[in-house]
Amino acid sequence: MTRLANKSALITGSTSGIGRAIAERFAAEGATVIVSGRRADLGAEVVRGIVAAGGRASFVPADLNAGAAAIEELAATVGTVDILVNNAAYLIGGRATPETPEDVVDAALSTNIKAPYLLTAALAPKMRTGGSGAIVNIGSINALTGMAGTALYSATKAALHAMTAAWAAEFGPHGIRVNTIAPGPTDVEWSTHLRPMLERMVSTVPSGRLAQAAEVAAAAAFLASDEALHIHGATLPVDGGLTAVTAHGALAHTSA
Ligand SMILES: NC(=O)c1ccc[n+]([C@@H]2O[C@H](COP(=O)([O-])OP(=O)(O)OC[C@H]3O[C@@H](n4cnc5c(N)ncnc54)[C@H](OP(=O)(O)O)[C@@H]3O)[C@@H](O)[C@H]2O)c1
Repeated sequence: MTRLANKSALITGSTSGIGRAIAERFAAEGATVIVSGRRADLGAEVVRGIVAAGGRASFVPADLNAGAAAIEELAATVGTVDILVNNAAYLIGGRATPETPEDVVDAALSTNIKAPYLLTAALAPKMRTGGSGAIVNIGSINALTGMAGTALYSATKAALHAMTAAWAAEFGPHGIRVNTIAPGPTDVEWSTHLRPMLERMVSTVPSGRLAQAAEVAAAAAFLASDEALHIHGATLPVDGGLTAVTAHGALAHTSA
């Protein structure tokens, strides 16, 4: 499929995990992809893989926890894009609220709320109107389901979900669609050490397994493509049915 031919896309946090899978999928669908993150070695590796597969990609380094100037620099380097995926996040893991230090609170708010807000503010006005502009926010089922140890992370993801709805109202009339994907527990590099716990958790949900990053990427490609032209402000869970069948508070800890 080449649903993203002639489109350019910035995917934040695409040096690993879900963001990397989105960059690879978008490139395979014909997009010119801008890979971004702090780890330049991994960014270069992602770009090499995409180019070797016949795609187009470049790497732009950015620390989204470094304040407005860093985000402005990223936006200026990138210029104009058709698609923005706000994927990068400060992943806190399970952490009791009384044991969460202020610097972790600041980093989570800065990376997960301030950065996508400022980046969208900088890039959305330059996107093509007429329906081809698209923003995909990578939220989380944690924004939808209460789980012990995730209050801070969940709050930042809920903020991103709320931004999606407000941006759908703000940018939709200009032909820019904004949607959220809410992944459930997804099998990525960092979650390896949590796998036994995650697998116990997902054994109770319809799919009975973790998501693959490529499955989240497939949903992102759909939402970014013109096949989703009439989809604005939606939240698409990619969670094997977890949020549909799990009562609030039933889970002790989650992945991210
Ligand atoms: N895996 C799951 O189970 C799961 C479930 C629900 C939602 N999610 C969401 O999916 C998204 C991707 O997470 P993942 O699981 O794929 O984890 P990951 O592999 O650790 O990816 C996180 C990405 O964010 C980037 N990042 C983190 N802090 C950054 C900063 N200060 N500046 C720039 N980039 C930064 C990292 O790149 P650098 O380190 O190179 O900067 C990395 O590429 C996140 O939004 C996460 O909340 C994941």
